[in-house]
Amino acid sequence: MKVTHAEFIISAATEKQYPTDRLPEIALAGRSNVGKSSFINTLISRRNLARTSSKPGKTQTLNYYRINEQFYFVDVPGYGYAKVSKKEREKWALMMETYFQKRKHLKAVLLVIDLRHEPTKDDVQMYDYLIYYDWPVIVVATKLDKVPKGKRASFIKRAKDTLDLKDTDHIVPFSAYTGEGKRESWQLLKAFISR
Ligand code: GTP
Ligand code: MG
Repeated sequence: MKVTHAEFIISAATEKQYPTDRLPEIALAGRSNVGKSSFINTLISRRNLARTSSKPGKTQTLNYYRINEQFYFVDVPGYGYAKVSKKEREKWALMMETYFQKRKHLKAVLLVIDLRHEPTKDDVQMYDYLIYYDWPVIVVATKLDKVPKGKRASFIKRAKDTLDLKDTDHIVPFSAYTGEGKRESWQLLKAFISR
């Protein structure tokens, strides 16, 4: 997809702030610091529209980016960051529920994982949670550039096995640094957006 327009729309903390124009949405879920914002930036070829940082736990709200007036990327706050208080964790869970329980315009969820490591308990829980709500999931296995070529296939298999992916689920090896997986991601997204 050729991206001609990409703009940050809102940092939504409550349901009332979600956009009301009914454009399709693609959400990004994943551990804190895994590379969700970098994925968005790579897909739209912008260095820093979606804010990235080396400090985990930065994104605390649902960040909406409107692409080509056609759909939204929804950058969901990351999970699994140890230094988050119990109260903040509860707030996060509530925000997830509000969003994932009834967001009708959601077309697919990109579950971003770090290919270097076996998916964590939190990753497995997030995957199961999305499946429970019946959302189509596309697993993006990022930081591919950090995995030696000879290990890529076995690491992908490990991710599939640990998450217990269904045969119909997609998993895309990806790197925000080299752009590998960008084209395949767009192909999948286009198909989901037009559903
Ligand atoms: P939160 O918003 O805190 O949940 O983080 P995030 O998931 O949005 O991660 P972000 O995109 O900010 O990236 C976190 C760190 O990982 C940054 O230092 C990025 O430069 C780095 N990073 C992201 N993608 C890749 C990648 O494909 N390869 C490598 N080597 N590093 C990456
Ligand atoms: Mg982020």
